[in-house]
Amino acid sequence: MATIGQRGTWSSRAGFILAASGSAVGLGNIWGFPTQVGQGGGAVFVLIYLACVVLICLPIMVAELVLGRRAQLDPVGAFSMLRPGSSWWLVGALGVLAGAGILSFYSVIAGWSVAYIWYTATGAVTGDADAIGTFFGTFTANGPLSVGLALLVLTTTGAVLLGGVQSGIERVTKLLMPALIALLLILAVRAATLPGAAAGLAYYLRPDFSRLLDPAVINAALGQAFFSLSLGMGAMLTYGSYLSKRESLITAACWVVALDTSMALLAGFIIFPSGFSIEGFDPSASGPGLIFAVLPRLFSTLPGGQLFGAAFFILLTMAALTSTISLLEVPVAHCIDVHKWTRRKAVILVTTGVFLLAIPSALGNGAVAALTRMPGIGVDFLTMMGTIWNNFALPVGGLLTAVFVGWVWRVDQAIDEVETHGASFPAKRLWSVLIRYVCPVAISVIIVYTIVSL
Ligand code: PFF
Repeated sequence: MATIGQRGTWSSRAGFILAASGSAVGLGNIWGFPTQVGQGGGAVFVLIYLACVVLICLPIMVAELVLGRRAQLDPVGAFSMLRPGSSWWLVGALGVLAGAGILSFYSVIAGWSVAYIWYTATGAVTGDADAIGTFFGTFTANGPLSVGLALLVLTTTGAVLLGGVQSGIERVTKLLMPALIALLLILAVRAATLPGAAAGLAYYLRPDFSRLLDPAVINAALGQAFFSLSLGMGAMLTYGSYLSKRESLITAACWVVALDTSMALLAGFIIFPSGFSIEGFDPSASGPGLIFAVLPRLFSTLPGGQLFGAAFFILLTMAALTSTISLLEVPVAHCIDVHKWTRRKAVILVTTGVFLLAIPSALGNGAVAALTRMPGIGVDFLTMMGTIWNNFALPVGGLLTAVFVGWVWRVDQAIDEVETHGASFPAKRLWSVLIRYVCPVAISVIIVYTIVSL
């Protein structure tokens, strides 16, 4: 089996599906989705999110995989190869930058998850909701600790890429994904039996239609869908470039989307019933601390909760790691394919650059918050990075990918790529309409609507 840097193929379709869903399932599902549902008004956010996944993200997932497999190159190389001499390579360049930008704040949150393995195992986070919330606040206020933890996450990610990702990712995700699903199911059952679970489920499942047209909610749902599915920045394009011509791209894309969406929905079934079982819980006010404040409270009610808590944060860290690997792989693959660097040089330099960029996000929650706070915006650097990349850069990347495949490179080329070696492309007419019309129009309208309403 070849390693990723040698332009090999995944060992099998299952290997690809596991690696790609490893990229997709991460902090975005377990931390980001419930947080966004909380801030976006509950069930109405879930409905808009699902519409974005099916109508916009699934067609773009197919488009990215097709581009990668046809070009067998990183995002910049792929756009330049398919439209030589044009400026389309800039879309790939945006993806490479987004990979580094997202990883810079993602590694900070993944670092918190690492620390919580220790804190839950040793029973340091116990007590009532206030005590657990204060613990989280004090912990994130320790900037140097967050910097150190982010460094740990980034060096581990870099080490995996140095050693050849493919066999590592495939082997690790094959073990981790079933374990993660099993643990999430157990926690969901436990959460459903807590007092207050009914209120949590009602919040999660009963839509308040008054927020259906709220531009902030729609934009957040679209950004979250792109982020959760690792779309709009060439990660799926890069992973698709290692996919064998014999495999059906459509089946693979459907699997990744279905797995990712179920994991996000499942996380909501844990967080909201747990949250509502705590007196005075306000899902919209919890912000990024939701998972770090609510889950430890749930664990403290379980027999063997310390063990459960530690196991949960180990799996959350692992889910994050399979995502950081794909985030780092995009700029690394670019340096290898286009600049002809060795894998070693690419990994060392890109990891160092991302670490420097991670420092303000790590410090922004603590004593140096004042320095990294943007005047007048009132959000810390980490939140600002999340908004810029998730809510704008990824949808813009997705929009340009849809326009490129639908109108520039053209859909018949894409269909031809899917059908090479006899694989079928069910609903290809529907896909063509979605990629040519629905995706570009819907994404443009949402972006313009958001900007105007700002
Ligand atoms: N999809 C990951 C998550 O939900 O946590 C985050 C992510 C990974 C985004 C890789 C983009 C990407 F290229």
